Amino acid sequence: MDTLTVVGCQFGDEGKGKVIDYLSKDFDVSVRFNGGENAGHTVVVGDKTIKYHLVPAGFLGSKTVVIANGVVINIKKLVEEIEFLKTFKSSINLKISEMAHVVTELHFKRDSYLEQVRGAGHIGTTLKGIGPAYESKFGRYGIRLVDFRDRKKLLGNLSLISKIYQIPFDEKYVDSLLEDYQMIERYISDTRSYLENEIENGKRVLFETAQGTFIDVESGTYPFVTSSYTTSGGVTVGTGLSPRYFSKFLGVAKAYTTRVGEGMFPTEMFGQEADVLRNFGNEFGTTTGRPRRVGHLDIPMLRRAVKLNSLDYIALTKVDVLGKMDSIKVAVSYESNGSEIKEFDPSRVPDKVNYETFKSWRDDASNLQKYIDFIQSELKVPIVLIGTGEKRDAIKVNGRLAL
Ligand code: GDP
Ligand code: IMO
Ligand code: MG
Repeated sequence: MDTLTVVGCQFGDEGKGKVIDYLSKDFDVSVRFNGGENAGHTVVVGDKTIKYHLVPAGFLGSKTVVIANGVVINIKKLVEEIEFLKTFKSSINLKISEMAHVVTELHFKRDSYLEQVRGAGHIGTTLKGIGPAYESKFGRYGIRLVDFRDRKKLLGNLSLISKIYQIPFDEKYVDSLLEDYQMIERYISDTRSYLENEIENGKRVLFETAQGTFIDVESGTYPFVTSSYTTSGGVTVGTGLSPRYFSKFLGVAKAYTTRVGEGMFPTEMFGQEADVLRNFGNEFGTTTGRPRRVGHLDIPMLRRAVKLNSLDYIALTKVDVLGKMDSIKVAVSYESNGSEIKEFDPSRVPDKVNYETFKSWRDDASNLQKYIDFIQSELKVPIVLIGTGEKRDAIKVNGRLAL
């Protein structure tokens, strides 16, 4: 099967957008399968920057892009994104799953309310209604695009959510939702069958996750996670496709680590050192503009990511940024209760982190090769692509990627 699934290896914002954009020219179809507008996938095209939130970042390279059933959609936001993307490509070949759930203003309000109730234990969500939209889906009172065919049904669904949340809504809101819906209606279809046919007919299909492995609702640092399946396993449920269609997996890892929002971060840097790296890497959230927490590369974390996602390949991004630092530290293991631990466990904060130090490649490029060789030998997964800058073409091929 000619498919490749791309996941994030850390806490999100690994540079998936740029890597997916690069890969997409070799794929007929690009598919998003989880998350919502909490995602921000950046691609710098000439002097313009595209921040994909809902549309797959393979938009420019692939003939067709698909938003699959696992995504939760703020329709207004999607309409805006489509309008913006029209300035980059004359024909928009977009397919949206009729089974995808919708994020409404009630979900936005619920997200803010829940964060407020959590108080000091807040997650630091993007406040885009993502958790509540999945909460409605799993609670079996969500709204799917298919429900928009009947105004009465839509009104009934919204009323139920309103009752459950104890948040009122104006009936005029139904009409404004329907107006937005009409703007995307022509793109809506049964994407599961479409993708199944494409794959069976030998088309090349690229699947892209939003977020990163350790904010997966099952495998991440719960409760400081998002509400969807961000790991390789998510691609089957998020598209409705048989697991047998997925055989190759590529993980995108940043050459260091960043995290937005709260939660465990064993290799976090603080103070001036953190400020320097944050500024070199322009580590401010694509979706919310929040400063990202920054830290050293964490090999125990990547070891777990390799296993959880069945990674065949890795793309390592932002080596240009890390190379600006004076010296480079990499976590190689942890210690807990006096024992050495080789693999990150999202439910246990280690007592201590053990580091190795590497020389900067600011003046000597061979030091970068040593860094890359070290990561490959520790993870036993080839690093096939290396991100060397923000621009679209600042990417180096370091190994063969076969499907
Ligand atoms: P994503 O969510 O994984 O797609 O990542 P984001 O787009 O949220 O954040 C990654 C940021 O790093 C964006 O601003 C990208 O333009 C930028 N970026 C991606 N790869 C590289 C790279 O190799 N070098 C540099 N300097 N910037 C990069
Ligand atoms: P991309 O696809 C980084 C984080 C939020 C918060 C937690 C829960 O660009 O890598 P949510 O709004 O999803 O309920 O917030 O998850 N988060 C991300 N962090 N990159 C993302 O997406 C993220 N999407 C959500 O900051 O900590
Ligand atoms: Mg991002």
